Amino acid sequence: MDTQKTIMSKLDIRQFEAKKVPADVKLKVLEAARASGTGLNKQEWRFILVQEREAIKRLAEDSTSGGWVAGANFAVIVLADPKLGFHLIDSGRAIQNIQLAAWDQGVISGLYTGFKEERMRKDFAIPDELKPTVVVGFGYPVKKILGKKNRKPLSELAFVDKYGNKFDAKKLN
Ligand SMILES: Cc1cc2nc3c(=O)[nH]c(=O)nc-3n(C[C@H](O)[C@H](O)[C@H](O)COP(=O)(O)O)c2cc1C
Repeated sequence: MDTQKTIMSKLDIRQFEAKKVPADVKLKVLEAARASGTGLNKQEWRFILVQEREAIKRLAEDSTSGGWVAGANFAVIVLADPKLGFHLIDSGRAIQNIQLAAWDQGVISGLYTGFKEERMRKDFAIPDELKPTVVVGFGYPVKKILGKKNRKPLSELAFVDKYGNKFDAKKLN
């Protein structure tokens, strides 16, 4: 897929086929996480790839808003250092990279932020100094989807030169 098409068609999907995602795709996902940028190149994020069925089930039980991850083929827990003011930006960049890298391989994903944090820390041996920011669950989509996004138009979201100057594609130079 070309990059723009990958971005424009990627949806957050929470229902997956039982089909196994091959190891090379998981590796691409982790490499995409590693390639993402961080403030001051701190590379403080850490990623736990969860792939055993029992562990995925536990991950689902440790969540308040991501029970659907039980049906994922694998998941990535994104950890970041909350002492750094930019840790959420760093997490977001890694999350977007891994979701797009997966979708480029036909693997869809969803994410959640609702954790039973103490349980999750214990179950996945998360050290005190790192904060789980997001869990992303991955798998093949149940049916062929090429996304139609529900997004506001650029005329509402974007401005040119200063806030209030409405974006108009015809006026781009
Ligand atoms: C910060 C953040 C937190 C989110 N938390 C949850 C969550 O707890 N559970 C969930 O199912 N989806 C969660 N989502 C997924 C959003 O609902 C999803 O990104 C949004 O619906 C856009 O989906 P689309 O790209 O398929 O249109 C979260 C997304 C973001 C950016």
